Amino acid sequence: MSQVPHVRLNNGVSIPQIGFGVFQIPPERTADAVRVALDAGYRHIDTAQGYGNEEGVGQAVRESGLRRGDVFVTTKLANDRHGYKEAIVALDESLERLGFDHVDLYLIHWPRPRADRYVETWRAFEKVAAAGKARAIGVSNFQIPHLRRLAAASETVPAVNQIELHPYLVQAELRDYHRTHGIATEAWSPLAKGGDLLQEPVIVALAEKYGKTPAQVVLRWHLQLGNIAIPKSVTPERVRENIDLFDFELDNDDVSAIEEMGRFLRTGPDPDLFG
Ligand SMILES: NC(=O)c1ccc[n+]([C@@H]2O[C@H](COP(=O)([O-])OP(=O)(O)OC[C@H]3O[C@@H](n4cnc5c(N)ncnc54)[C@H](OP(=O)(O)O)[C@@H]3O)[C@@H](O)[C@H]2O)c1
Repeated sequence: MSQVPHVRLNNGVSIPQIGFGVFQIPPERTADAVRVALDAGYRHIDTAQGYGNEEGVGQAVRESGLRRGDVFVTTKLANDRHGYKEAIVALDESLERLGFDHVDLYLIHWPRPRADRYVETWRAFEKVAAAGKARAIGVSNFQIPHLRRLAAASETVPAVNQIELHPYLVQAELRDYHRTHGIATEAWSPLAKGGDLLQEPVIVALAEKYGKTPAQVVLRWHLQLGNIAIPKSVTPERVRENIDLFDFELDNDDVSAIEEMGRFLRTGPDPDLFG
């Protein structure tokens, strides 16, 4: 039995707090990678139209022997599919590739503020949710002004905002906004892509203190902040390591010490400019 806690979204849908991200996993390797993750106990997979690997995700879930309702699957609207009709058709195409009749979460991948179409796109998201093609709808890479604009134009509050978030980019303001408005915070690149962060003295010292690995300390920090986190790995031992987080708890001081590492360092693009 998986011990992963669930977060209840603002429409009552429940999402496992640890998921498996598949960005940059080549299409031909995706089904195997997802199989490893499902075997390790993950019940939440994060893909996107832009990753080109939805087929592999769908295949692994369908062949797993698990019930569809036991695996939470997210996909995201590709940047070049903004617009009312486009966003609806794009989800139908995703469902075809996944081999599902619905996704659990459909996200606007990037706001693309210069194109200025995300409000229109959000109307399409409300439509697919009402039609049962997405159990929950949300956004990704939205900054506070983008969230405010949606709130002014629509009564539907995004269930989730999936943002770059790790100890180098702690996103305190956005997390506050989310908390106040009932939006769940989902962390992408939760390990800051597994680079320097995992060698930071603060993280390494905590790993020694708790007898866990640096990645486990960082993921445990996400859990204790209430974030949903979706680490990616194609290395089976790491896939298992990244969900083996439930036999220790960070002291409050240690959670704060990690928070203090924040230095506004992005590993990915600036959402105000991207796309
Ligand atoms: N919404 C968005 O715009 C957006 C953007 C980026 C990512 N995402 C989502 O977030 C997911 C995760 O982000 P990410 O892949 O960029 O970064 P990440 O999960 O922070 O890091 C992945 C990297 O860390 C390595 N790694 C994983 N576990 C490790 C461990 N226990 N010890 C040491 N190294 C480890 C992986 O290597 P190996 O694979 O070689 O093991 C890989 O190179 C993506 O897959 C995607 O689903 C969303």
